[in-house]
Amino acid sequence: MSHSSQSIAAALSALDGWPLLQGPRVRLRGPRDADVEAFFELFGDPRVMRYWSRPPLTERAEAEQLLTRCHDEFAARTALEWIIADENDRAIGSCKLFRLNPTHRRAELGYALHPDHWGRGVAREANTLALDWAFGTLGLHRVDAGIDPDNTASRALLHRLGFVTEGRQRESFFVEDRVTDSELLGLLGSDWRRDR
Ligand SMILES: CC(C)(COP(=O)(O)OP(=O)(O)OC[C@H]1O[C@@H](n2cnc3c(N)ncnc32)[C@H](O)[C@@H]1OP(=O)(O)O)[C@@H](O)C(=O)NCCC(=O)NCCS
Repeated sequence: MSHSSQSIAAALSALDGWPLLQGPRVRLRGPRDADVEAFFELFGDPRVMRYWSRPPLTERAEAEQLLTRCHDEFAARTALEWIIADENDRAIGSCKLFRLNPTHRRAELGYALHPDHWGRGVAREANTLALDWAFGTLGLHRVDAGIDPDNTASRALLHRLGFVTEGRQRESFFVEDRVTDSELLGLLGSDWRRDR
């Protein structure tokens, strides 16, 4: 099936909720109010936020705001932020396609996983579900990612998924008083299919 800018825009507006994507160990599903505690734990953890574009959350209300933003961005179809849920449907992470751009058939990928689950291929499984949907079902042409160049785990994951490092922006992110470069990576739909 071939996809056009129009078909991508139409598919996004036709969504009546977050696509439910089931993998062998985890599933991607839409956020629920009950996920607020898990979100607070995740984005309040300094290990998770070490290379993030903002400092760790300190208040539960900030986690509520993040969940509200998920719903607002879904409503506007500018982003799809899924919950990564374990076999008990507990939220253990988040996986997000944002800056959704039907005209140029691209989006950006972001993710975070609770440290209890690191190092077991869970992020690879979760992001594979999102990318299969993004390229296969939605029909994107390209997915971008940007990382702090010191974030070796994130780079290893992206390279494992087939992303290629394409460049580096100097001093492009301030987190409080610290400024960092941004390493830019990209994955084309044609590479995604070829690699699999
Ligand atoms: C990045 C992150 C999602 C990786 O999660 P994970 O579940 O541990 O990753 P996976 O187990 O799926 O690993 C994927 C690949 O990356 C490699 N990798 C993971 N962590 C690594 C590390 N600390 N150092 C080197 N390689 C690492 C794995 O070996 C694996 O490659 P392989 O399949 O060839 O063995 C996790 O570390 C995280 O949530 N970090 C904090 C949030 C964050 O920085 N998000 C990205 C912002 S850009």
